[in-house]
Amino acid sequence: MRVLVIGGGGREHALLWKLMQSPRVTKVYCTPGNGGMGAHAVTPPISSTDVESLVRFARENQIDLTVVGPEASLMAGVVDAFEREGLAVFGPRKSAARVEGSKRFAKELMEKYGVPTGRYRAFTDPEAAIRYIREQGAPIVVKADGLAAGKGVIVARTLDEAEKAVEDLMRSRTFGKAGEEIVVEEYLEGEEISLMAFVDGETVRPMVPAQDHKPVFDGDRGPNTGGMGAYSPVPQISEERIRQIVQEILEPMARGMEQEGLRYRGVLYAGLMMTDAGPKVIEFNARFGDPETQVVLPRLDSDLAEILSAVTEGRLQEISIRWKPESSLCVVMASEGYPGDVVKGKKIRGVPAATGETMVFHAGTSREEGALITAGGRVLGVTALGADLQSAREAAYRSVESIEFEGAHYRKDIGARGVKARQT
Ligand code: AMP
Ligand code: GLY
Repeated sequence: MRVLVIGGGGREHALLWKLMQSPRVTKVYCTPGNGGMGAHAVTPPISSTDVESLVRFARENQIDLTVVGPEASLMAGVVDAFEREGLAVFGPRKSAARVEGSKRFAKELMEKYGVPTGRYRAFTDPEAAIRYIREQGAPIVVKADGLAAGKGVIVARTLDEAEKAVEDLMRSRTFGKAGEEIVVEEYLEGEEISLMAFVDGETVRPMVPAQDHKPVFDGDRGPNTGGMGAYSPVPQISEERIRQIVQEILEPMARGMEQEGLRYRGVLYAGLMMTDAGPKVIEFNARFGDPETQVVLPRLDSDLAEILSAVTEGRLQEISIRWKPESSLCVVMASEGYPGDVVKGKKIRGVPAATGETMVFHAGTSREEGALITAGGRVLGVTALGADLQSAREAAYRSVESIEFEGAHYRKDIGARGVKARQT
Protein backbone atom coordinates (compact mmCIF):
# COMPACT_ATOMS: atom_id res chain seq x y z
CA MET A 1 0.00 0.00 0.00
CA ARG A 2 1.36 3.41 -1.01
CA VAL A 3 0.41 6.13 1.45
CA LEU A 4 0.56 9.92 1.18
CA VAL A 5 0.42 12.13 4.27
CA ILE A 6 -0.43 15.77 3.60
CA GLY A 7 1.26 18.29 5.89
CA GLY A 8 4.65 18.99 7.37
CA GLY A 9 4.34 19.25 11.14
CA GLY A 10 5.00 17.06 14.15
CA ARG A 11 1.59 15.48 13.78
CA GLU A 12 2.38 14.38 10.23
CA HIS A 13 5.77 13.04 11.29
CA ALA A 14 4.04 10.95 13.97
CA LEU A 15 1.47 9.71 11.43
CA LEU A 16 4.24 8.74 9.04
CA TRP A 17 6.23 7.02 11.80
CA LYS A 18 3.21 4.94 12.82
CA LEU A 19 2.14 4.16 9.25
CA MET A 20 5.63 2.89 8.43
CA GLN A 21 5.20 0.23 11.12
CA SER A 22 2.30 -1.26 9.21
CA PRO A 23 3.17 -4.45 7.32
CA ARG A 24 0.73 -3.39 4.60
CA VAL A 25 2.47 -0.06 3.90
CA THR A 26 5.17 -0.37 1.25
CA LYS A 27 5.96 3.25 0.49
CA VAL A 28 5.28 6.58 2.21
CA TYR A 29 5.18 10.12 0.87
CA CYS A 30 4.67 13.36 2.74
CA THR A 31 3.90 16.73 1.15
CA PRO A 32 5.63 19.04 1.85
CA GLY A 33 7.13 17.13 4.80
CA ASN A 34 9.97 18.51 6.90
CA GLY A 35 13.64 18.04 7.67
CA GLY A 36 13.09 14.89 9.73
CA MET A 37 11.21 12.79 7.21
CA GLY A 38 13.51 12.54 4.23
CA ALA A 39 15.27 9.40 5.41
CA HIS A 40 12.03 7.42 5.41
CA ALA A 41 9.65 9.15 3.05
CA VAL A 42 9.62 10.95 -0.28
CA THR A 43 8.80 14.60 0.47
CA PRO A 44 7.88 16.57 -2.65
CA PRO A 45 7.48 20.31 -1.96
CA ILE A 46 3.75 20.59 -2.67
CA SER A 47 1.76 22.98 -0.53
CA SER A 48 -0.91 21.41 1.68
CA THR A 49 -3.58 23.60 0.10
CA ASP A 50 -2.55 23.18 -3.56
CA VAL A 51 -5.47 20.86 -4.27
CA GLU A 52 -4.83 20.36 -7.97
CA SER A 53 -1.16 19.44 -7.56
CA LEU A 54 -1.97 17.07 -4.70
CA VAL A 55 -4.57 15.23 -6.79
CA ARG A 56 -2.15 15.02 -9.70
CA PHE A 57 0.64 13.74 -7.45
CA ALA A 58 -1.59 11.06 -5.91
CA ARG A 59 -2.75 9.90 -9.33
CA GLU A 60 0.71 9.85 -10.91
CA ASN A 61 2.23 7.97 -7.96
CA GLN A 62 -0.63 5.49 -7.61
CA ILE A 63 -1.28 6.43 -4.00
CA ASP A 64 -3.64 3.95 -2.35
CA LEU A 65 -4.52 6.11 0.65
CA THR A 66 -4.03 9.80 1.42
CA VAL A 67 -4.18 11.07 5.01
CA VAL A 68 -4.91 14.76 5.47
CA GLY A 69 -3.10 16.38 8.42
CA PRO A 70 -3.85 20.14 8.54
CA GLU A 71 -7.22 21.82 8.86
CA ALA A 72 -6.29 24.24 6.06
CA SER A 73 -6.18 21.31 3.59
CA LEU A 74 -9.63 20.17 4.69
CA MET A 75 -11.03 23.68 4.33
CA ALA A 76 -9.35 24.02 0.91
CA GLY A 77 -11.44 21.03 -0.22
CA VAL A 78 -8.68 18.42 -0.59
CA VAL A 79 -10.98 15.57 0.49
CA ASP A 80 -13.78 16.64 -1.86
CA ALA A 81 -11.34 16.81 -4.80
CA PHE A 82 -9.79 13.41 -4.04
CA GLU A 83 -13.21 11.79 -3.72
CA ARG A 84 -14.31 13.29 -7.05
CA GLU A 85 -11.30 11.59 -8.64
CA GLY A 86 -12.08 8.28 -6.93
CA LEU A 87 -8.93 8.49 -4.76
CA ALA A 88 -9.11 7.02 -1.23
CA VAL A 89 -8.65 9.80 1.31
CA PHE A 90 -8.87 10.02 5.08
CA GLY A 91 -10.57 13.14 6.44
CA PRO A 92 -13.94 14.90 6.38
CA ARG A 93 -15.23 16.84 3.40
CA LYS A 94 -15.10 20.61 3.52
CA SER A 95 -18.77 20.86 4.49
CA ALA A 96 -18.20 18.62 7.55
CA ALA A 97 -14.80 20.13 8.43
CA ARG A 98 -16.66 23.37 9.17
CA VAL A 99 -17.15 21.90 12.63
CA GLU A 100 -13.62 23.22 13.10
CA GLY A 101 -13.50 25.88 10.38
CA SER A 102 -16.35 27.90 11.87
CA LYS A 103 -16.80 28.15 15.61
CA ARG A 104 -20.28 29.52 15.10
CA PHE A 105 -21.32 26.54 12.97
CA ALA A 106 -19.98 24.18 15.65
CA LYS A 107 -21.87 26.04 18.37
CA GLU A 108 -25.13 25.88 16.42
CA LEU A 109 -24.78 22.13 15.88
CA MET A 110 -24.01 21.59 19.57
CA GLU A 111 -27.07 23.58 20.53
CA LYS A 112 -29.28 21.61 18.16
CA TYR A 113 -28.04 18.19 19.27
CA GLY A 114 -27.81 18.91 22.99
CA VAL A 115 -24.03 18.72 23.25
CA PRO A 116 -22.84 20.59 26.38
CA THR A 117 -20.73 23.68 25.74
CA GLY A 118 -20.20 27.17 27.15
CA ARG A 119 -22.77 29.94 26.67
CA TYR A 120 -21.81 32.15 23.75
CA ARG A 121 -22.82 34.85 21.33
CA ALA A 122 -21.47 35.52 17.80
CA PHE A 123 -20.75 39.04 16.55
CA THR A 124 -19.81 40.82 13.34
CA ASP A 125 -20.03 44.25 14.97
CA PRO A 126 -17.28 45.14 17.45
CA GLU A 127 -19.49 47.66 19.30
CA ALA A 128 -22.13 45.01 19.98
CA ALA A 129 -19.43 42.56 21.08
CA ILE A 130 -18.04 45.06 23.57
CA ARG A 131 -21.51 45.84 24.94
CA TYR A 132 -22.13 42.13 25.49
CA ILE A 133 -18.74 41.68 27.15
CA ARG A 134 -19.48 44.54 29.58
CA GLU A 135 -22.82 42.92 30.43
CA GLN A 136 -21.26 39.52 31.05
CA GLY A 137 -18.17 40.65 32.95
CA ALA A 138 -14.72 39.02 33.12
CA PRO A 139 -13.19 36.48 32.95
CA ILE A 140 -14.53 35.88 29.45
CA VAL A 141 -13.22 34.30 26.25
CA VAL A 142 -12.97 36.01 22.85
CA LYS A 143 -12.41 33.87 19.74
CA ALA A 144 -11.93 34.54 16.05
CA ASP A 145 -14.64 32.65 14.15
CA GLY A 146 -12.32 31.29 11.44
CA LEU A 147 -9.05 29.40 11.51
CA ALA A 148 -6.10 31.02 13.28
CA ALA A 149 -3.67 28.12 13.89
CA GLY A 150 -4.92 27.69 17.45
CA LYS A 151 -3.91 31.25 18.31
CA GLY A 152 -7.14 33.19 17.70
CA VAL A 153 -8.44 32.60 21.23
CA ILE A 154 -7.99 35.14 24.01
CA VAL A 155 -8.86 34.09 27.54
CA ALA A 156 -9.41 37.55 29.05
CA ARG A 157 -9.03 37.93 32.80
CA THR A 158 -10.25 41.53 32.79
CA LEU A 159 -12.72 43.62 30.78
CA ASP A 160 -9.82 45.69 29.41
CA GLU A 161 -8.14 42.56 28.07
CA ALA A 162 -11.41 41.40 26.51
CA GLU A 163 -12.03 44.74 24.83
CA LYS A 164 -8.47 44.85 23.53
CA ALA A 165 -9.00 41.34 22.09
CA VAL A 166 -12.06 42.56 20.18
CA GLU A 167 -10.07 45.53 18.86
CA ASP A 168 -7.18 43.31 17.80
CA LEU A 169 -9.30 40.66 16.10
CA MET A 170 -11.96 42.86 14.47
CA ARG A 171 -10.30 46.23 13.89
CA SER A 172 -6.57 45.49 13.57
CA ARG A 173 -7.33 42.06 12.05
CA THR A 174 -4.43 40.32 13.79
CA PHE A 175 -5.67 37.07 12.25
CA GLY A 176 -6.94 38.55 8.98
CA LYS A 177 -10.29 37.32 7.73
CA ALA A 178 -10.64 34.91 10.66
CA GLY A 179 -11.63 37.98 12.72
CA GLU A 180 -14.52 39.13 10.50
CA GLU A 181 -16.78 37.38 12.93
CA ILE A 182 -16.01 36.61 16.55
CA VAL A 183 -17.51 34.42 19.23
CA VAL A 184 -17.64 35.62 22.83
CA GLU A 185 -17.86 32.69 25.21
CA GLU A 186 -18.43 31.96 28.84
CA TYR A 187 -15.21 31.24 30.74
CA LEU A 188 -15.09 27.57 31.71
CA GLU A 189 -13.06 26.35 34.63
CA GLY A 190 -11.67 22.89 35.19
CA GLU A 191 -9.25 20.28 33.92
CA GLU A 192 -8.74 20.32 30.17
CA ILE A 193 -8.68 17.20 28.03
CA SER A 194 -8.44 16.34 24.34
CA LEU A 195 -10.34 13.28 23.21
CA MET A 196 -10.00 12.25 19.59
CA ALA A 197 -12.07 9.58 17.91
CA PHE A 198 -12.02 7.74 14.61
CA VAL A 199 -15.42 8.28 13.02
CA ASP A 200 -16.85 6.75 9.83
CA GLY A 201 -20.27 8.34 10.00
CA GLU A 202 -22.06 5.76 12.13
CA THR A 203 -19.32 4.35 14.28
CA VAL A 204 -17.29 6.33 16.79
CA ARG A 205 -14.12 4.74 18.19
CA PRO A 206 -12.35 6.87 20.78
CA MET A 207 -8.60 7.06 21.03
CA VAL A 208 -6.87 7.35 24.39
CA PRO A 209 -7.20 10.84 25.94
CA ALA A 210 -4.43 13.42 26.08
CA GLN A 211 -3.81 16.76 27.72
CA ASP A 212 -2.28 19.60 25.74
CA HIS A 213 -0.44 22.64 27.14
CA LYS A 214 -1.56 25.68 25.16
CA PRO A 215 0.08 28.69 26.84
CA VAL A 216 3.70 29.29 25.95
CA PHE A 217 5.17 29.50 29.48
CA ASP A 218 5.31 27.26 32.56
CA GLY A 219 2.32 27.44 34.86
CA ASP A 220 0.05 28.20 31.87
CA ARG A 221 1.27 31.77 31.56
CA GLY A 222 1.70 33.83 28.41
CA PRO A 223 -0.15 33.75 25.10
CA ASN A 224 -1.71 30.61 23.64
CA THR A 225 0.25 28.58 21.10
CA GLY A 226 -0.62 25.64 18.87
CA GLY A 227 0.43 23.45 21.84
CA MET A 228 3.71 23.22 23.79
CA GLY A 229 3.49 19.58 24.82
CA ALA A 230 1.11 16.80 25.73
CA TYR A 231 0.80 13.57 27.62
CA SER A 232 -1.41 10.50 27.75
CA PRO A 233 -3.18 9.05 29.68
CA VAL A 234 -4.70 11.82 31.81
CA PRO A 235 -5.00 10.14 35.23
CA GLN A 236 -6.98 13.02 36.77
CA ILE A 237 -9.92 12.10 34.51
CA SER A 238 -11.66 8.78 35.13
CA GLU A 239 -12.54 6.10 32.58
CA GLU A 240 -16.16 6.72 33.46
CA ARG A 241 -15.84 10.36 32.39
CA ILE A 242 -14.25 9.33 29.13
CA ARG A 243 -17.18 7.02 28.41
CA GLN A 244 -19.54 9.88 29.24
CA ILE A 245 -17.73 12.13 26.75
CA VAL A 246 -18.07 9.50 24.03
CA GLN A 247 -21.77 8.96 24.71
CA GLU A 248 -22.86 12.51 25.40
CA ILE A 249 -20.56 14.45 23.11
CA LEU A 250 -18.77 12.54 20.34
CA GLU A 251 -21.58 10.16 19.37
CA PRO A 252 -24.39 12.77 19.32
CA MET A 253 -22.16 15.09 17.32
CA ALA A 254 -21.30 12.43 14.71
CA ARG A 255 -24.95 11.36 14.44
CA GLY A 256 -26.12 14.96 14.34
CA MET A 257 -23.85 15.64 11.43
CA GLU A 258 -25.14 12.55 9.65
CA GLN A 259 -28.68 13.87 10.13
CA GLU A 260 -27.63 17.20 8.70
CA GLY A 261 -26.48 15.37 5.58
CA LEU A 262 -22.85 16.04 6.49
CA ARG A 263 -21.46 12.54 6.90
CA TYR A 264 -18.37 12.78 9.08
CA ARG A 265 -15.44 10.58 8.14
CA GLY A 266 -12.05 11.06 9.74
CA VAL A 267 -10.89 12.13 13.17
CA LEU A 268 -13.28 14.09 15.32
CA TYR A 269 -11.35 15.85 18.05
CA ALA A 270 -13.14 17.23 21.09
CA GLY A 271 -11.32 19.81 23.20
CA LEU A 272 -13.08 19.72 26.56
CA MET A 273 -13.21 21.35 29.95
CA MET A 274 -14.19 19.14 32.86
CA THR A 275 -16.34 21.64 34.75
CA ASP A 276 -18.22 21.09 38.00
CA ALA A 277 -21.31 20.67 35.84
CA GLY A 278 -19.67 17.92 33.76
CA PRO A 279 -17.62 17.89 30.56
CA LYS A 280 -18.20 20.83 28.20
CA VAL A 281 -16.87 21.32 24.69
CA ILE A 282 -14.35 24.10 24.15
CA GLU A 283 -13.88 23.29 20.49
CA PHE A 284 -14.09 20.58 17.88
CA ASN A 285 -11.30 19.93 15.45
CA ALA A 286 -11.78 17.99 12.23
CA ARG A 287 -8.36 16.29 12.31
CA PHE A 288 -5.65 14.80 14.46
CA GLY A 289 -4.43 17.19 17.18
CA ASP A 290 -0.91 18.53 17.29
CA PRO A 291 0.86 17.67 19.64
CA GLU A 292 -1.79 15.19 20.92
CA THR A 293 -1.10 12.83 18.00
CA GLN A 294 2.55 12.63 19.01
CA VAL A 295 1.54 11.08 22.36
CA VAL A 296 -1.53 9.11 21.28
CA LEU A 297 -0.04 7.22 18.32
CA PRO A 298 2.92 5.78 20.27
CA ARG A 299 0.28 4.16 22.50
CA LEU A 300 -1.60 2.63 19.58
CA ASP A 301 -1.01 -1.10 19.43
CA SER A 302 -3.07 -1.72 16.28
CA ASP A 303 -2.20 -1.13 12.63
CA LEU A 304 -2.97 2.52 11.83
CA ALA A 305 -3.18 1.90 8.08
CA GLU A 306 -5.86 -0.70 8.69
CA ILE A 307 -7.89 1.68 10.87
CA LEU A 308 -7.64 4.57 8.41
CA SER A 309 -8.68 2.34 5.51
CA ALA A 310 -11.63 1.04 7.52
CA VAL A 311 -12.78 4.60 8.14
CA THR A 312 -12.54 5.64 4.49
CA GLU A 313 -14.45 2.50 3.50
CA GLY A 314 -17.12 2.94 6.18
CA ARG A 315 -16.37 -0.33 7.98
CA LEU A 316 -14.92 0.90 11.26
CA GLN A 317 -17.46 -1.32 13.02
CA GLU A 318 -15.48 -4.40 11.92
CA ILE A 319 -12.20 -3.25 13.42
CA SER A 320 -10.98 -3.60 16.98
CA ILE A 321 -8.47 -1.03 18.22
CA ARG A 322 -5.93 -1.91 20.91
CA TRP A 323 -3.93 0.51 23.06
CA LYS A 324 -0.74 0.04 25.05
CA PRO A 325 -0.88 0.46 28.83
CA GLU A 326 2.28 2.63 28.80
CA SER A 327 2.24 6.40 29.24
CA SER A 328 3.66 8.87 26.77
CA LEU A 329 4.74 12.47 26.95
CA CYS A 330 5.87 15.02 24.36
CA VAL A 331 7.81 18.24 24.98
CA VAL A 332 7.73 20.79 22.16
CA MET A 333 10.94 22.71 21.57
CA ALA A 334 10.15 26.05 19.94
CA SER A 335 12.07 28.81 18.17
CA GLU A 336 12.90 32.14 19.72
CA GLY A 337 9.89 34.45 19.42
CA TYR A 338 7.22 31.72 19.15
CA PRO A 339 4.19 32.16 19.20
CA GLY A 340 5.00 35.57 17.70
CA ASP A 341 7.44 36.26 14.84
CA VAL A 342 10.12 33.61 14.98
CA VAL A 343 13.81 33.47 14.24
CA LYS A 344 14.61 30.64 11.78
CA GLY A 345 17.60 29.06 10.11
CA LYS A 346 19.42 28.03 13.31
CA LYS A 347 21.51 24.85 13.29
CA ILE A 348 20.03 22.01 15.36
CA ARG A 349 22.47 19.70 17.15
CA GLY A 350 22.25 16.64 19.34
CA VAL A 351 18.99 15.06 18.14
CA PRO A 352 19.16 11.54 19.57
CA ALA A 353 18.46 8.57 17.33
CA ALA A 354 14.97 7.11 17.79
CA THR A 355 14.77 4.10 20.07
CA GLY A 356 11.68 2.07 20.90
CA GLU A 357 11.00 4.47 23.77
CA THR A 358 12.05 7.91 22.55
CA MET A 359 10.99 9.53 19.31
CA VAL A 360 11.85 13.02 18.13
CA PHE A 361 9.05 14.15 15.83
CA HIS A 362 10.11 17.01 13.61
CA ALA A 363 7.89 20.01 12.90
CA GLY A 364 9.55 23.28 11.83
CA THR A 365 12.82 21.81 10.55
CA SER A 366 14.49 21.62 7.18
CA ARG A 367 17.80 20.57 5.67
CA GLU A 368 20.40 22.93 4.31
CA GLU A 369 23.27 21.13 2.61
CA GLY A 370 22.48 18.12 4.74
CA ALA A 371 22.51 20.06 8.03
CA LEU A 372 19.36 20.20 10.10
CA ILE A 373 18.07 23.75 10.67
CA THR A 374 15.06 25.38 12.29
CA ALA A 375 12.33 26.45 9.88
CA GLY A 376 9.26 27.27 11.97
CA GLY A 377 7.79 28.09 15.37
CA ARG A 378 7.38 24.64 16.85
CA VAL A 379 10.58 22.85 15.89
CA LEU A 380 10.67 19.40 17.53
CA GLY A 381 8.27 17.24 19.53
CA VAL A 382 10.50 15.24 21.82
CA THR A 383 8.48 12.22 22.87
CA ALA A 384 8.97 9.27 25.16
CA LEU A 385 7.02 6.20 26.15
CA GLY A 386 7.40 4.86 29.69
CA ALA A 387 5.91 2.47 32.20
CA ASP A 388 4.22 5.47 33.85
CA LEU A 389 3.99 9.22 33.27
CA GLN A 390 6.91 10.01 35.53
CA SER A 391 9.31 7.75 33.63
CA ALA A 392 8.01 8.97 30.25
CA ARG A 393 8.55 12.51 31.49
CA GLU A 394 12.09 11.87 32.67
CA ALA A 395 13.01 10.19 29.39
CA ALA A 396 11.52 12.99 27.27
CA TYR A 397 13.35 15.72 29.20
CA ARG A 398 16.61 13.74 29.04
CA SER A 399 16.36 13.86 25.25
CA VAL A 400 15.37 17.53 25.28
CA GLU A 401 18.48 18.36 27.25
CA SER A 402 20.72 16.74 24.66
CA ILE A 403 19.28 18.93 21.85
CA GLU A 404 20.57 22.42 21.09
CA PHE A 405 19.66 25.30 18.85
CA GLU A 406 20.07 29.01 19.44
CA GLY A 407 17.03 30.59 21.09
CA ALA A 408 15.35 27.24 21.83
CA HIS A 409 12.65 27.34 24.48
CA TYR A 410 10.31 24.76 25.94
CA ARG A 411 8.06 24.31 28.94
CA LYS A 412 9.61 22.53 31.91
CA ASP A 413 6.28 21.47 33.40
CA ILE A 414 4.75 19.23 30.71
CA GLY A 415 2.81 16.45 32.42
CA ALA A 416 3.33 17.88 35.91
CA ARG A 417 -0.39 17.80 36.71
CA GLY A 418 -0.77 14.24 35.51
CA VAL A 419 2.21 13.05 37.52
CA LYS A 420 0.86 14.77 40.64
CA ALA A 421 -2.62 13.32 40.15
CA ARG A 422 -1.23 9.83 40.00
CA GLN A 423 0.55 10.28 43.35
CA THR A 424 -2.52 11.43 45.26
P1 AMP B 1 -9.35 26.71 21.40
O1 AMP B 1 -8.47 27.13 20.26
O2 AMP B 1 -10.79 27.05 21.23
O3 AMP B 1 -9.08 25.31 21.83
O4 AMP B 1 -8.85 27.55 22.65
C1 AMP B 1 -7.51 27.54 23.05
C2 AMP B 1 -7.42 27.41 24.53
O5 AMP B 1 -8.06 28.52 25.17
C3 AMP B 1 -8.12 26.19 25.08
O6 AMP B 1 -7.32 25.07 25.01
C4 AMP B 1 -8.39 26.62 26.51
O7 AMP B 1 -7.27 26.46 27.32
C5 AMP B 1 -8.68 28.08 26.36
N1 AMP B 1 -10.14 28.28 26.25
C6 AMP B 1 -10.88 28.29 25.13
N2 AMP B 1 -12.18 28.48 25.40
C7 AMP B 1 -12.27 28.59 26.74
C8 AMP B 1 -13.36 28.81 27.65
N3 AMP B 1 -14.61 28.96 27.23
N4 AMP B 1 -13.07 28.87 28.96
C9 AMP B 1 -11.80 28.73 29.41
N5 AMP B 1 -10.75 28.54 28.62
C10 AMP B 1 -10.96 28.46 27.29
N1 GLY C 1 -3.27 20.89 20.09
C1 GLY C 1 -4.49 21.46 19.70
C2 GLY C 1 -4.84 21.31 18.31
O1 GLY C 1 -4.34 20.48 17.59
O2 GLY C 1 -5.68 22.06 17.84
